[in-house]
Amino acid sequence: MVAPLPTHTQQELQERGFSRRQIGRIALILGAGTVMAGMPWHRGRADTLPVGGTYPANSILLNGNEFWTGPFPSALPEGQKALLNGNRYLTGQERQALIESAAAYDHIAPELITPWPGSSDPLCRTVISFCSPTRGLVTCDPTYETVWGVAEWLQIPLAKVPLRPENGYQADVRAMLKANPQAGMYYICSPNNPTGTVTPIKDIAWLARHIPQNAVLVVDEAYLHFSGRPSAVSLLGSCRNLIVLRTFSKLFGMAGLRLGLSMAHPDLQDRMMRYDGIYQTTMLSVPATAIGTASLKDPAEIQKRRTETRNNRKIMQNCLSHYGIRTIPSEANMLMVDWRKAPGPITTAFAQNGIIIGRSWSIWPTCSRITVGSASDVQAFCKAMENMSTLLK
Ligand SMILES: Cc1ncc(COP(=O)(O)O)c(C=O)c1O
Repeated sequence: MVAPLPTHTQQELQERGFSRRQIGRIALILGAGTVMAGMPWHRGRADTLPVGGTYPANSILLNGNEFWTGPFPSALPEGQKALLNGNRYLTGQERQALIESAAAYDHIAPELITPWPGSSDPLCRTVISFCSPTRGLVTCDPTYETVWGVAEWLQIPLAKVPLRPENGYQADVRAMLKANPQAGMYYICSPNNPTGTVTPIKDIAWLARHIPQNAVLVVDEAYLHFSGRPSAVSLLGSCRNLIVLRTFSKLFGMAGLRLGLSMAHPDLQDRMMRYDGIYQTTMLSVPATAIGTASLKDPAEIQKRRTETRNNRKIMQNCLSHYGIRTIPSEANMLMVDWRKAPGPITTAFAQNGIIIGRSWSIWPTCSRITVGSASDVQAFCKAMENMSTLLK
């Protein structure tokens, strides 16, 4: 049972052109809160998803872009203390400590930061808050599909601009603007999921300066820390139409703990707060908040995980290229691998070797996304490649 949206929110959505049926669907999305994996656009895909999938015990999971180990060791004592305090709801001080820690890490004002239980919720909210049946969504293709699911389910016009090898699989920002010059939201994931390729800050700045009034540019930096590249938060001072999203689900090893951040001008954050936004941002997990706060104070561990990921990725790439298999140069914990044939039998063969690899995108049906694992995961991956070498020819 989904609670109806408050009358003023329904009115506002009606004024933006949403039908009663679409408003009902928006209530369902926002009411779902953190269980985005259960949303209608994920149905039938549960086997390829990090969330909701079931795998044989001891499988090596290279399908969900999670980190291979848990939270930062330096943050665990704070997490343990918080666990013992788990009888208490999150206090304002604990929430504020996370905000201050993120502000110090990124050298931005705390007022620009809102915490969430992961970044899926604010990501869905951005589409609902800034798109409409007349103000579409523009993204690259392939990219992280959650925003596509929301747009398609709400019948919001969706333009997908293909990534091209000619420009290093970066977002082609000029083509994105041309694809729909009147969109409500432009979405860039950098490093991009599933390619791991980075769009330069100068291109992000160009798009932010050229999109129409009242539109927003959402930059999803879920994988930023793997790349060591500068963040789009440096543009927040000059671009009041920019929203940067972060998650602790990847390099920080906290996917199951649920913590994310949106970084944007307070006006935009307010627009994302409709319905139960306030509830979502204040009812965070206490251990997750404590661990997130402490992790951001440990840049050495960020660097260490980045280097390890880079090394393990290189070993996987070398192993694949040994069999003549091409990968796209990635700056994140994933590789897009082109088998040059339908991946189904290869995915099955990996599973028979105890390794679950990731999904394909319809624009590149011969490619699979594979998450970079630990050194021992990578060793098992290379052994599995050896076992199935005839299949790879
Ligand atoms: C690009 C991107 N953004 C957002 C998310 C959502 O992550 P979470 O809700 O765990 O923060 C993911 C998860 O895979 C992702 O790849």
